[in-house]
Amino acid sequence: MPFETRVVAATPEQASTPLLAVALSRAPLPAALTALDRAAGGAITRLLESGDFVGKKDETAVLYPPAPVGRLLLVGVGKAEEVTLAGIRRAAAVAGKRARTLGVPSAAFHLAIDLPAGITPADAGRAVAEGLAFGTWQFTDLKRPPEEPKPLLERIDVLAPSATAEWERGHAIGAAVGAGQSFARGLQVLPGNTCTPSFLGKTATELGARHGIRVTVLGKDEIIKEKMGALWSVAQGSIEEPRFIVLEYDGAPGAPVVLVGKGVTFDTGGISIKPAANMEDMKFDMSGAAAVLGTFEMLGRVKPKVRVVGLVPTTENMPSGSAVKPGDVVTSHFGKTIEIINTDAEGRLILCDALSYARRFSPAAVVDIATLTGAIVVALGNSTTGVMGTDEPLLAELRAAGDRADERVWPLPLHDDYRDLMKSDIADVKNAGGRGAGSITAGWFLREFVEGYPWAHLDIAGTAYSDREDATRVKGPTGIGVRLFSEFVLGRQG
Ligand code: BES
Ligand code: MN
Ligand code: ZN
Repeated sequence: MPFETRVVAATPEQASTPLLAVALSRAPLPAALTALDRAAGGAITRLLESGDFVGKKDETAVLYPPAPVGRLLLVGVGKAEEVTLAGIRRAAAVAGKRARTLGVPSAAFHLAIDLPAGITPADAGRAVAEGLAFGTWQFTDLKRPPEEPKPLLERIDVLAPSATAEWERGHAIGAAVGAGQSFARGLQVLPGNTCTPSFLGKTATELGARHGIRVTVLGKDEIIKEKMGALWSVAQGSIEEPRFIVLEYDGAPGAPVVLVGKGVTFDTGGISIKPAANMEDMKFDMSGAAAVLGTFEMLGRVKPKVRVVGLVPTTENMPSGSAVKPGDVVTSHFGKTIEIINTDAEGRLILCDALSYARRFSPAAVVDIATLTGAIVVALGNSTTGVMGTDEPLLAELRAAGDRADERVWPLPLHDDYRDLMKSDIADVKNAGGRGAGSITAGWFLREFVEGYPWAHLDIAGTAYSDREDATRVKGPTGIGVRLFSEFVLGRQG
């Protein structure tokens, strides 16, 4: 369904729209709203004076002023002296979500605050575009239409009466990032019987054709011929054939950044089968792949001067007569042998062959992203992504990118002490350690296959999807990683 946002050089009182959303701080009434307030018979002033709306984060109020504005939606951005870029993005997301649920065909958005020092109009334009895309996202394709359907939200005008060109410049990037994130969420949400490895391969090929990005998809036979024995060991139990997707965006010469995304389209656990409760959530086990593909959707729209390679190993993890068993030993693409202790530790198996394959690009950096361990949810909960790696500057770069994108990451240690936990009695490494330090031992396993480039690993098992709705999110996919990767790769432009 078409949805777009655009910047318009108009003041709020000039808007004629079914819904005007205005983001503001605590009273007094901002100067930008006095004319609008007058046109509304002083309703905004009375609301602020009543104390019913104080402009807190996530706070909203809906007024019904006389035409030409059908609804006036006030959204809080918090105290004026505490406004951040994340707060602006969030207010836009709250507005977008309310606009979507109120069921208007179009809307306008205005940020009625003085930008604090350090936030430029371009920054604000980008954050608002990202927030609007995020808040308005929904997925209804698999439901019958309601008996009394509401109009679909097709357009939001961002009102920027001053510094319009700068707003426009930031908005163009933010809209592309937002489209990339929505693209990722659209893949995440699909059930496992639709979003199969071959479906992801087809989706990547179409993305490449749409944007002029080189995309190569290796099938089962090529995966075996490439000696990706760890990826194949996961795939061998499924009727669905695996794919290994390679995307190459060449916006500049030089060593590329390589992004690797875990694409397990459904994780039953295999022979080490998972319990039934919440197993349906394991359709989200391709969220790393979605983040990488969403980032390439952004690249195709922005066309920045960077070189980025995307690698997506994708498979199902199923139990069957042909499935890999605990105790089996397989040979990885790197050449190291792996004793499979637990077939549910499959993500690291498919990633290790991709990390090994990445060497052929002589990367400037490799970052993998994966719903890798339940342990990361225990450590960091659902709001922070775990990060590990071999290169302090790269880790610092990712933390800074995550802060700016408001997709925050926090480091876990890869001290040498943990390495022994992954030693096998009969093979070079085993794929699962004991009970302790589950996210770190997974990181250490991956590290065994990293050679010749700076590397970092993002564990998004806690952040890839949400089990409850809130002011900006629906229950379901978050598109995590797209905003972070966008900051990261755009920040690497020459
Ligand atoms: N896909 C899961 C991790 C996961 C858990 C993602 C919860 C999202 C929510 C992964 O493949 C897995 O099963 N990991 C195991 C590893 C263990 C067997 C060493 C885990 O975390 O229990
Ligand atoms: Mn698993
Ligand atoms: Zn998994």
